[in-house]
Amino acid sequence: MSTGARWDEVYPSKSPASVSGHRPRCAQSLAWIDRCGLGPRAHGVDAGRSVQWGVSDASTALFEEEDVDRWHDRAALHVLTEAARRDACIEALRRAVRPGGLVIIATFGPNGPERCSGLSVTRHASSEIAAALGPGFERVEGADEEHTTPGGAAQAFAHERCRRSTP
Ligand SMILES: C[S@@+](CC[C@H](N)C(=O)[O-])C[C@H]1O[C@@H](n2cnc3c(N)ncnc32)[C@H](O)[C@@H]1O
Repeated sequence: MSTGARWDEVYPSKSPASVSGHRPRCAQSLAWIDRCGLGPRAHGVDAGRSVQWGVSDASTALFEEEDVDRWHDRAALHVLTEAARRDACIEALRRAVRPGGLVIIATFGPNGPERCSGLSVTRHASSEIAAALGPGFERVEGADEEHTTPGGAAQAFAHERCRRSTP
């Protein structure tokens, strides 16, 4: 069973606020999105938003080429523990984001948890995230973020803002 399918089993059984990664307002991402000044007509992707909003497989080519102004991923890439699925997701992102487009990715950092909702995750240092996007993408800035779970535990996140620099 793919990681996406395993998550589809786990998530519907939980209320959003009971999931350890739950964050009612993703302030860092919103600040970066505001700073980029994308208008209301900008095309945005929120990979792995929540099953309550409908889940598509971000590793498939769902989007038109260079049609996306903003790709946001909080804690979706890090649940893709199969390298082939992770690579496919990055390939879909590379294809979809237009030159100049914004990419925000938040994953568990090197000191973050090894599991999320009982499932394995991968952890990434900030510096690895932009590199993982490959040529044509550059790091703009990053922020290590400590997320407090609804149960009061600390989770170390690496949060990165990148942009597609070249066609
Ligand atoms: C840890 S949750 C994060 C949810 C939300 N983004 C947040 O920050 O609370 C991981 C999410 O990734 C989704 N997911 C897993 N595999 C996926 C895939 N291939 N494509 C898109 N979403 C996927 C899961 O269904 C789940 O909603």
